[in-house]
Amino acid sequence: MPGLTAPSDYARDPPRHPALLVNSKEPFNAEPHRSALVSSYVTPVEFFYKRNHGPVPIVDDIHKYSVSISGLVENATELCMKDILELPKYAVTATLQCAGNRRTAMSKSRKVKGVGWDIGAIGNAVWGGAKLADVLELIGILKFSRISPLGGKYVEFVSIDKCKEENGGPYKASIPLSQATNPEADVLLAYEMNGETLNRDHGYPLRVVVPGVIGARSVKWLDSINIIAEECQGFFVQKDYKMFPPSVDWDNIDWSTRRPQMDFPVQSAICSLEEVNCIKPGKVTIKGYAASGGGRGIERVDVSTDGGQTWIEASKSQKAGTPYVSDDESCDKWAWILFEAEADIPESSEIVAKAVDITGNIQPENVQVIWNLRGILNTSWHRVLVQIAHYPNP
Ligand code: MTE
Repeated sequence: MPGLTAPSDYARDPPRHPALLVNSKEPFNAEPHRSALVSSYVTPVEFFYKRNHGPVPIVDDIHKYSVSISGLVENATELCMKDILELPKYAVTATLQCAGNRRTAMSKSRKVKGVGWDIGAIGNAVWGGAKLADVLELIGILKFSRISPLGGKYVEFVSIDKCKEENGGPYKASIPLSQATNPEADVLLAYEMNGETLNRDHGYPLRVVVPGVIGARSVKWLDSINIIAEECQGFFVQKDYKMFPPSVDWDNIDWSTRRPQMDFPVQSAICSLEEVNCIKPGKVTIKGYAASGGGRGIERVDVSTDGGQTWIEASKSQKAGTPYVSDDESCDKWAWILFEAEADIPESSEIVAKAVDITGNIQPENVQVIWNLRGILNTSWHRVLVQIAHYPNP
């Protein structure tokens, strides 16, 4: 692993912002407070959730760092950072969301296995880097290929971090070759996040960003790329991040019956209010985020102040000064929208948000119908409680 080393313990993990809510210290898993998510369209790096499965790798010497590309290719090669930097650079604004976002709420319905997350395992960043489609062209795999000349159908990304789930081996994942070679899928080998060099927690020196797909496929600290005939056989593709029906439990699970999760479904959450709030009667501002996978824009966000009996439509925004139009080129198709609504809250109630994407997909009303033993993809209506405090007149 030229230039990149993987420590066995956490002593040399990087420093992090003290305001992050830490869900697990080792490996480090943390999210921002929900209010930080709606402070800006682009999430500041220090408040972007961190999802690690082992100690954070270290770059000894960036000049020695290279990524090997091999497998079902005619010319296996090694690309150093300079080679990647020489390719055309793209800036893609994309929301990354962990499949486990909102897992804590799912575990309240019935126990699930996994790191507990509130609603902050999601963030929106401007990723800068080379397109994977351009990188693959360097080794003779043409744009828009479904199968490589030697029969490769998937592109596997391998890191070097030491993960318990892989028995100390590296984190890895794969995506279909058709997605990797499609320039419009915007899959990046990213070296920048929000205009700055990628930091260690987010994958320095180079990470994959697969827009519109659960975060698990965006492999950090990239060490090698393999062109393979079948999907990656790693733990995180075959034995994790799959969605099972509510009937499947740990004693009857058969991992091979389900496909690895790729696109994430339509999601939204209220960020300007806590789970339980005590406020004075009057107007309340309800702000949050909504996003859908696969580049599907957000058609609508509905907000209710009576537990879902009646609804108002929230306003939606992305970049300041550009009105959001869900399927227009002026908008960031891989990115979340922030929504806002104002409502009078005369009495204690439940405030609810649900989003609809441009294909009409809509969040499910309750978590029970989507419960799954790994607690992934909790996209049920997000609900918060508001209790009205009647203060006596002075
Ligand atoms: N890549 C490596 N090498 N190791 C990891 O633990 N975690 C994955 C993905 N890539 C992971 C990884 C998961 S589950 C998610 S959700 C995203 O990285 C999180 O990226 P972030 O920490 O930059 O937010």
